[in-house]
Amino acid sequence: MAEQTSVTLEKLVALCKRRGFVYQTADIYGGLNGVYDTGPLGTLLKRNLRNAWIKSLEATGYDILFMEGSVITPEAIWEASGHLEGFQDPMVDCTFCKHRYRADDIDLSKPCPHCGNTAWTEVRQFNLMFKTQVGAAADATSVAYLRPETAQSIFVNFKNVMNSNRVKIPFGIAQIGKAFRNEITPKQFLFRMREFEQMEMEWFCRPETAEEFFRIWCAIRKAFYADIGIAPERIRLRAHEKDELSHYSSETSDVEYQFPFGWKELEGIANRGNFDLSRHMEFSGKDLAVYDDDTKSAFVPHVVETSVGTDRLFLTILFDSYHEDTVEGETRTSLRLHPRLAPYIAAFMPLSKKIAAPLEKIYGELRQKGYMVQYDDSGSIGKRYRRQDEIGTPLCFTYDFESEQDSSVTVRNRDTMAQERISIDQIEAYIKKTLG
Ligand code: GAP
Repeated sequence: MAEQTSVTLEKLVALCKRRGFVYQTADIYGGLNGVYDTGPLGTLLKRNLRNAWIKSLEATGYDILFMEGSVITPEAIWEASGHLEGFQDPMVDCTFCKHRYRADDIDLSKPCPHCGNTAWTEVRQFNLMFKTQVGAAADATSVAYLRPETAQSIFVNFKNVMNSNRVKIPFGIAQIGKAFRNEITPKQFLFRMREFEQMEMEWFCRPETAEEFFRIWCAIRKAFYADIGIAPERIRLRAHEKDELSHYSSETSDVEYQFPFGWKELEGIANRGNFDLSRHMEFSGKDLAVYDDDTKSAFVPHVVETSVGTDRLFLTILFDSYHEDTVEGETRTSLRLHPRLAPYIAAFMPLSKKIAAPLEKIYGELRQKGYMVQYDDSGSIGKRYRRQDEIGTPLCFTYDFESEQDSSVTVRNRDTMAQERISIDQIEAYIKKTLG
């Protein structure tokens, strides 16, 4: 088996479409730039990613509550958060070919990469929020925005959650949900999108503990990526320089992944201080401070945030697991997904439809028990293996003529292609062991 691992964005995009992970939105109408639909296999993979994230938070043993905020949000939130004023990117156009760029993405002393002319407009600031209108009357009070981050839904609900759940500082509120940014130049497939999902956790703590919790959360979040099988040498933590920090943050570290197009942010971890709660107190006039029974005084909690995009993680997982090798003179593509992330943990394949009944029965039983398993009885065994390799299925069980005699099956490993014989009674235990 000769190794030849070379992943490119083009190969991933093609695999995603071919196997039903991701499709361009409105493909049959020519697509919509920066937005994508998730296909059946992608939906399963995403579900597993969300579950892994939730589990990793629960495994900390900390008090973390989950919520889901609305996508449509009033202007007041974004005035308070600073997004209305500051959530913008510099934009520049080529006056010759009308191509638009993020000004910080290109060198303006050089010609337009699209047409080769040097004729730039002034650099303007472009606010990335999608503006909309709620209700039939269009006036100042009907203005709303699609949220550009899920975090603010958490901050504005901080007191609601605290009052209705009897939790004490320190605790976290976590959320998985859609965010929208009208990116000037969406690019690299799922890396920079206009509609995407975030998995965010806001950790509310006493001011003097925030720095320590920031370090703790950096360590927890970095460990998460090793746990879900990402190669440790392609993950690093990078602390922001002072001039890179967002307006709300006193310290930020990014978990970065080494994509084929360079080291890029996968997740942001920020010490937001009391910026958000203080601003919402100021703009709403509501008291969001917490009373401390021990010291008999009130304080505004500080916040450590962890924020990762589900879609960006999805892309990362695909890059990291993509593998090619040569088998019998042909290129074999496989996704070496962690068994708990793989859309299907196993596939069941009878050598012939005539002897399928026992395997079909086990397959049905396992499905009823909630295992994600597939049944495939068409085409040559070699082709069926390739199909499963490409969608990352860790195990394939085949039932052959010998199985009829000895009640055993062959189990084949996706990564090593090693095969072993096990008794039919052992199948569920084998799957359980693989899931860990
Ligand atoms: N609440 C903090 C916040 O939203 P961010 O660094 O702007 O911080 C957090 O975003 C994460 O969301 C990023 O690390 C990335 O994983 C994801 N993300 C941000 N913009 C994205 C986009 N346009 N497309 C896909 N994912 C994006």
